Amino acid sequence: MKITEARVIVCSPGRNFVTLKIVTDQGIYGLGDATLNGREKAVVAYLEEHCIPALIGMNPENTEDIWHYFYRGAYWKGGPVTMTAIAAIDMALWDIRGKSLNVPVYKLLGGKSRDRVLVYAHANGVSLQDAVEKAGVEIKKGFKAVRVQCAVPGVSHAYGIARDGRSYEPASKGLPETQVFDTGKYLDFIPEVFAGLRAAYGTDINLLHDVHHRCTPIEAARLAKDLEPFHLFWLEDPVSGELKEGLRLIRKHSVTPIAIGEVFNTGFDFTTLITEQLIDYIRMPLAHGGGITHLQKLAAFASFYQVRTGFHGATDLSPVNLAASLHFCLAVNNFGILEYMPHQDVVHEVFSINYSLSDGHLQISDAPGLGVDLDEERARKYPYAMASLPVGRREDGTLWYW
Ligand code: GCO
Ligand code: MG
Repeated sequence: MKITEARVIVCSPGRNFVTLKIVTDQGIYGLGDATLNGREKAVVAYLEEHCIPALIGMNPENTEDIWHYFYRGAYWKGGPVTMTAIAAIDMALWDIRGKSLNVPVYKLLGGKSRDRVLVYAHANGVSLQDAVEKAGVEIKKGFKAVRVQCAVPGVSHAYGIARDGRSYEPASKGLPETQVFDTGKYLDFIPEVFAGLRAAYGTDINLLHDVHHRCTPIEAARLAKDLEPFHLFWLEDPVSGELKEGLRLIRKHSVTPIAIGEVFNTGFDFTTLITEQLIDYIRMPLAHGGGITHLQKLAAFASFYQVRTGFHGATDLSPVNLAASLHFCLAVNNFGILEYMPHQDVVHEVFSINYSLSDGHLQISDAPGLGVDLDEERARKYPYAMASLPVGRREDGTLWYW
């Protein structure tokens, strides 16, 4: 088999998505998600200028060698742009493999380790009472796990809160907007939210919270300790991922499970965190972490340390990534949970999907390959529009993590 063509499709049904389509001489094609929120065009350029010319003529069956060609073979290794491009190539090649063998991808990854994939829903409250009520709505829908974010009294914008009743979407059109944050008020308030949630719903429901990189290590240690009585499923990104040593301080003070790495892009970002047992869940998604080939290795390595997967799954990752994640999560033994933020309906005008939600779990059909498709003609109806993630500042104006 030979790759005869590869092209990048950029579209914006409600939000921007970048998709790589790799076509073979046997008429089979594969899709890969190349969306990097707010940096879409950088990945497009990397794919078009550096990867696609080299892909033409390669045998798509050699996924392992092709992965190393684009990773190790590039002198300038790693980084989100490069690793998103490599992930898209890898995902598309696994899609081609599945289609050419007429099997769903999970069967090529070891088959089913479980029947369905546990996902967590989102509840974003504008007040404590609203957060508790919104969590209740998700629990009623059948979700077994809910991530809860809440506006903080006196803080103009806590992370993750939707405005004007719309569903939460991280990026907004144009240049970054500025959001102002106060860590002190946040730290005082968040434990009250989880006390309220436990009082309302008891201990059966799994509760998660995302700090979104905004605490210093000692602040994060305090939060993890204060949240301990409420037995969270995880506390996510308690410190910025750059500061790996910060995780040691958190571990010294609490047993709240920690998830990190949605902004990491290789397994090398995780090795110390895993061998020192500083984390419990891997957040790096297939789409930003080099695809199935690389995450398989990282998951296997993590399994020796009983660290589990908990992939990022916000709406800025396309249905192609979600389908690939479902195949992966069905197959891997040390699966923990998968994030689920439903895409807007308009996304499904362009992407046809083969997964469905019931009872707080996602299921995927046995269609060959990844099982999702993209309608290129419909995609043309939704042209790219520049969008950015916000920038964070402290109340005195100091630039901080968003
Ligand atoms: C999450 C994330 C997202 C990110 C977004 C950035 O845990 O779901 O933190 O909401 O902010 O994906 O593009
Ligand atoms: Mg997050």
